[in-house]
Amino acid sequence: MVKKKACVFISGSGTNLKELLKSTREYNFPININYIVSNSKNAKGLKLAKLYKIPFRVINLDKIINLETILKELYKKNISLICLAGYMKILNKKFINRFNKKIINIHPSLLPKYKGLDTFKRALKNSEKLTGCTVHYVNKKLDSGKIILKKKVFIELNDSVISLKAKVQAKEYRAFSESIISIFR
Ligand code: GRF
Repeated sequence: MVKKKACVFISGSGTNLKELLKSTREYNFPININYIVSNSKNAKGLKLAKLYKIPFRVINLDKIINLETILKELYKKNISLICLAGYMKILNKKFINRFNKKIINIHPSLLPKYKGLDTFKRALKNSEKLTGCTVHYVNKKLDSGKIILKKKVFIELNDSVISLKAKVQAKEYRAFSESIISIFR
């Protein structure tokens, strides 16, 4: 199978990146991860880039000159999918335009509920019984692009932000890979 080339954007621990890398080892998984971009040199996920010898770049995309650099690199590498896996910056509109319908994000709530940050805290505060994660295309409005897939998680009475995060992330790992399979089906 000829796999498409993908780039993963990270900011932090990179556990979603790790699970995606596991999926790429499967013969039928439609993508390989050929490039990793981080906005922070301290992102733990960068260790995975080094471990798997995947080219990576630490860059601040708020600067227009850096944005142009990354765009050129993504074109040169023939990247056809960008996965935002815990990338905590808002992407420039020009960038989103250039990669229209080719950028996907994983968000820790059942969108359209709880867009933005602190989703677990807010869901608990509102005594929600149900939350989960959503994989969606990225458009110019925060966490508002077309939804690809959602997975539910039930909130128990004794759940905390930590326990809820663990449950939701376990679902995220499957949701991200399943979404990528469905995109290229
Ligand atoms: C995930 O929970 C994702 O929903 C959110 O950021 C978190 C990233 O975690 N966008 P990790 O860096 O993949 O561990």
